[in-house]
Amino acid sequence: MSIEQYAVIGHPIAHSKSPLIHQAFAKQFNKAIRYEAVLSPLDGFAATLHRLQREGYVGVNVTVPFKFEAYGLSQALSERAKAAGAVNTLSFHSAEASCQIQGDNTDGCGLVNDILMHFPTALASKNILLLGAGGAAQGVILPLLAQRPAQLTIANRSLNKAQAMLEKFAPASAIYGVPIAVNTYADCTSAFDVVINATSAGLTDTPLPLSPHLFTQHTLAYDMMYGRETPFMFQARMAGAQVLDGLGMLVEQAAEAFYIWHGVRPDTAAVMQALR
Ligand code: ATR
Repeated sequence: MSIEQYAVIGHPIAHSKSPLIHQAFAKQFNKAIRYEAVLSPLDGFAATLHRLQREGYVGVNVTVPFKFEAYGLSQALSERAKAAGAVNTLSFHSAEASCQIQGDNTDGCGLVNDILMHFPTALASKNILLLGAGGAAQGVILPLLAQRPAQLTIANRSLNKAQAMLEKFAPASAIYGVPIAVNTYADCTSAFDVVINATSAGLTDTPLPLSPHLFTQHTLAYDMMYGRETPFMFQARMAGAQVLDGLGMLVEQAAEAFYIWHGVRPDTAAVMQALR
């Protein structure tokens, strides 16, 4: 039997940790897989994807900037992928199957699992502030609502984008019984139990204009970025909050993708420790 092939497609992709993480997971189950990082031209994602499909790959992860295109190329979508409007995990099925490219999104589940791994009671009945209203924010809203926090507040530089997010998730808000509020950064002045940074401001080391009163010693401040301390993490740490970066989210979203493809759940803590 030939070895199962997987890949992560992105641009850039050279520094992706996904091959390392998936190989570490596979090793836990004594399974040999190939998992490579594939650089796609910016205007060539569909061609890259279809090449891997033709070559018999079992599944691929998709990262920046192709998650929306992956959504568009999926022939069937999970509920969480639909809610996220983006796909980070694709599974290929045989030509006889009714759906040959299945799209899923494990990012939000990765965030939630990482938070709960560190603090099991951090989300249910708590006040959550989500910073940002772009693709990264949209990807985590449904899984956050599913944890039934007391309230989810979405704050963004442009209020109209936060408002649009609220409208998009109004049905889910009703299903889970979790009110969603929107705000500008300037108008968020009270303390939250959890503050999640889903903006891309950290990429350019730009501090967000946040009130220090958002954070207490009991606040969990979570940045989806990892690799260095962002201005958000610094602000939160200075205000006494507990801070987590997004490395755990990366490992947990990979674990969920691994589960989709292999049907088994890897031990993420061991892999996290090795990566740190
Ligand atoms: P992503 O897919 O990473 O979420 P995006 O869709 O471009 O990327 O969204 C980026 C998010 O970061 C948005 O919420 C953006 O705010 P706006 O909607 O007002 O543009 C936010 N963001 C990026 N740079 C920022 C900055 N310097 N200050 C405040 N917010 C910023």
